[in-house]
Amino acid sequence: MSIKLYTPEQIEQMKRAGGIVAECHRRIAAMLRPGVTTMDIERMVEDYIRSQDAIPYTIGYKGYKYATCASVNDVIAHGFPNDTPLADGDLATIDIVVKADGWVSDSAWTYAVGNISEESRKLMQVTKECLDIAIALAVPGNRIGDVMHALQKHAESNGFSVVRDLLGHGVGSEVHEEPNYSHVGKPGKGFRLKEGMVMTIEPMINEGTLEMFIDNDGWTCRTLDGKRSAQYEHTLVIREGGALILTQQ
Ligand code: MF3
Ligand code: CO
Repeated sequence: MSIKLYTPEQIEQMKRAGGIVAECHRRIAAMLRPGVTTMDIERMVEDYIRSQDAIPYTIGYKGYKYATCASVNDVIAHGFPNDTPLADGDLATIDIVVKADGWVSDSAWTYAVGNISEESRKLMQVTKECLDIAIALAVPGNRIGDVMHALQKHAESNGFSVVRDLLGHGVGSEVHEEPNYSHVGKPGKGFRLKEGMVMTIEPMINEGTLEMFIDNDGWTCRTLDGKRSAQYEHTLVIREGGALILTQQ
């Protein structure tokens, strides 16, 4: 396994792609309400990315057709945007990958549509806390197993489960670089984080079972029990003193 380490100059160049992803998410937060469709979001995001002289990376990626993944309620990840109006109480996760100046950034965020149930509110909150806990531990010298063990413990102690089948990944000039790692882990195991690594942390946390299946479309990942899933993802740079979040909103 060869994990790339990026120079301060390269990391400086990566900031523009991260900022575009972050601005897409700010714009989604501003437009999202019951009645809006995930295709409305898709069009806004694709237009905005292109207006910035950047590339909606997922269009054409392994045959994927859209600038966003739109994963509503029991969809864990990689759902297609569509023309169904979002309804009061839905949870919509929008995942965006941008390439600008040759560098990629990747961030997914779960949004509440209108008023959501107490249980969904808790799922969102715990999932966001899982990301924050992992980012706080993502410093040089720590092992990936330590980071993900803390994340897993937080999810499970709140009665939720951590998806195992979709992985975090290195990011650079491509979206999926080495290494790959699940969001569960054992203390003292796995590779050590190093200054200059660029990687995602993107926990998918489920209300019920961690098991999933993929729809006939070959992409849409759903919970096996039909219960809800949430996800928060940032692209970050490992550095002394704390990670630099490239996709910070
Ligand atoms: N954040 C997603 C992932 O790492 C981005 C995938 S893009 C897709 O899986 F095109 F594959 F959907
Ligand atoms: Co990702």
